Amino acid sequence: MSHEHIRVEREGEVGIVRLHRPKALNALCDALITELNAALRAFEENASIGCTIITGSEKAFAAGADIAEMQDRTWPAIWQEDFLADWDRVADVRKPLVAAVSGYALGGGCELAMMCDIIIAAENARFGQPEIRLGIIPGAGGTQRLIRAVGKAKAMDLILTGRMMDAHEAEACGLVARVVPVEQLMEEALSTAREIAGHSRTAVLAAKEAVLRAFETPLQEGLRFERRLFHALFATPDRKEGMEAFLEKRPPRWSGR
Ligand code: CAA
Repeated sequence: MSHEHIRVEREGEVGIVRLHRPKALNALCDALITELNAALRAFEENASIGCTIITGSEKAFAAGADIAEMQDRTWPAIWQEDFLADWDRVADVRKPLVAAVSGYALGGGCELAMMCDIIIAAENARFGQPEIRLGIIPGAGGTQRLIRAVGKAKAMDLILTGRMMDAHEAEACGLVARVVPVEQLMEEALSTAREIAGHSRTAVLAAKEAVLRAFETPLQEGLRFERRLFHALFATPDRKEGMEAFLEKRPPRWSGR
């Protein structure tokens, strides 16, 4: 399938989606989101893919929703079409997503990175929710996911002022898992994604689902859900193989079941 605003590749068991609207700093127009969702769906349905990386250019992961496209939108229209609802499909992807962020990840760009499971940032990365400066607020999860990632003090600071934070501040406050030099970003993202793709597929899906459940449920319910998933994995051949391999001091041979 050909795409206008993204580039799609694969490296072994890792899918790669590169946002590609260089003239607009990868601003997330409707067509780009449609292409991104289609590419992620294709990787989701491809049994040989175990993890996907979303990345942008060196200058911009994504500078937010497309402001030019939003300019003439009216309240009844965006209400009726439920503008931004389709962005949530990224968060519905069950296989792990790694965001490899270089340059700007602002507004919807920061929100897209937060829909991924692990954010790896280059040293030049800049994160922020500048919507307040446009007379709006974040609309693709920013007010909810940022506070869960970094806590109220930092989330309010960023969302109410609209300022940007650099990669090291983002790592210190827990938004970002790792910071690496710009030239090592893809190498680091790829080795992380390969490592994830190399684990038991069933266990990886269960782990992602259990961790995300912590966002949605009170602790006791989350603990019960985790326990049940943990129990369920004892029905899988991969669980038996993983433990056998450990005890026999050899690498596991995953069957994906
Ligand atoms: N939408 C549309 N176009 C954008 C854009 C965006 N979000 N961000 C940048 N561009 C375009 C610029 O208009 C410019 O286009 P032209 O060359 O045709 O003029 C081009 O990209 C390069 O941008 P700049 O000249 O501004 O580059 P810069 O290096 O001087 O500044 C920047 C970079 C600080 C990121 C600045 O572009 C900027 O502030 N962008 C907007 C960031 C923003 O407000 N994002 C939030 C959008 S709202 C949102 O995302 C809502 C939501 O919750 C989903």
